[in-house]
Amino acid sequence: MTRLPFLSGVEIIKILSKFGYSKVRQSGYFIRGICQSLEEVIFLRNWEKMIKIIVTGGAGFIGSHLVDRLINEGYKVIVIDNLSTGKKENLNPKAKFYKIDIRSPKIFEIFKKEKPEIVFHLAAQIDVRKSVEDPFESAKINILGSLNLIENFVKLYFAKKSHGFTTDKNVRISSREGSHEFAKFIFASTGGAIYGDAKIIPTPENYPEFPVSPYGIEKLIVEKLL
Ligand SMILES: NC(=O)c1ccc[n+]([C@@H]2O[C@H](COP(=O)([O-])OP(=O)(O)OC[C@H]3O[C@@H](n4cnc5c(N)ncnc54)[C@H](O)[C@@H]3O)[C@@H](O)[C@H]2O)c1
Repeated sequence: MTRLPFLSGVEIIKILSKFGYSKVRQSGYFIRGICQSLEEVIFLRNWEKMIKIIVTGGAGFIGSHLVDRLINEGYKVIVIDNLSTGKKENLNPKAKFYKIDIRSPKIFEIFKKEKPEIVFHLAAQIDVRKSVEDPFESAKINILGSLNLIENFVKLYFAKKSHGFTTDKNVRISSREGSHEFAKFIFASTGGAIYGDAKIIPTPENYPEFPVSPYGIEKLIVEKLL
């Protein structure tokens, strides 16, 4: 392992952090190799854990388990949920909770205040039958609600140009920890509903998409929007 005696581990982490979280992670073993004191290793671990994560649908079945895991890993977690099917008792007391609909115009205020690096988007109308009975309401939640989150997350991290938002890598907007290069939007789509009556089970991801319910179509639309 090459040693760089003129830079401390903390200084190297600070420099590397300017290039983005993932690169710092990739360099984790290298950094650990050159960290000269226990304090520096602790600093690196704490730096990773300063990352804020929003989980939509965090009071639901899957979301609440995800929240528990993230909190156990030491991350700061914020839950967005309107408790339509989710339960208050599912909420991890260590997570900050906003009872709000994902379609609300106030979502941007929450994003601006919390400045999450990562959004796990799980909130959804998940009932296939309901999506057939009331496709308008289902689409409003699953498509427009998702778009509201995506657009506001993009707005938080990317500069607005006259022709709209840009994903130009050169546009660096500072977040709490650094730049938009940390930012990740992770969407919980669906397996079965997107492929319809697939002939291969388990269905591989490259199987032709052929959703046969509004729910499946809504999830596929959001995949394409992303
Ligand atoms: N459960 C499964 O087998 C399965 C399979 C594939 C994909 N998924 C996806 O995983 C995600 C979570 O599924 P789940 O089984 O935990 O469902 P769930 O119904 O238990 O959780 C969904 C959560 O979203 C919240 N929610 C619904 N509409 C909302 C809105 N408009 N605004 C804010 N919050 C709202 C609900 O209150 C609930 O807490 C969903 O996106 C679902 O489509 C689930």
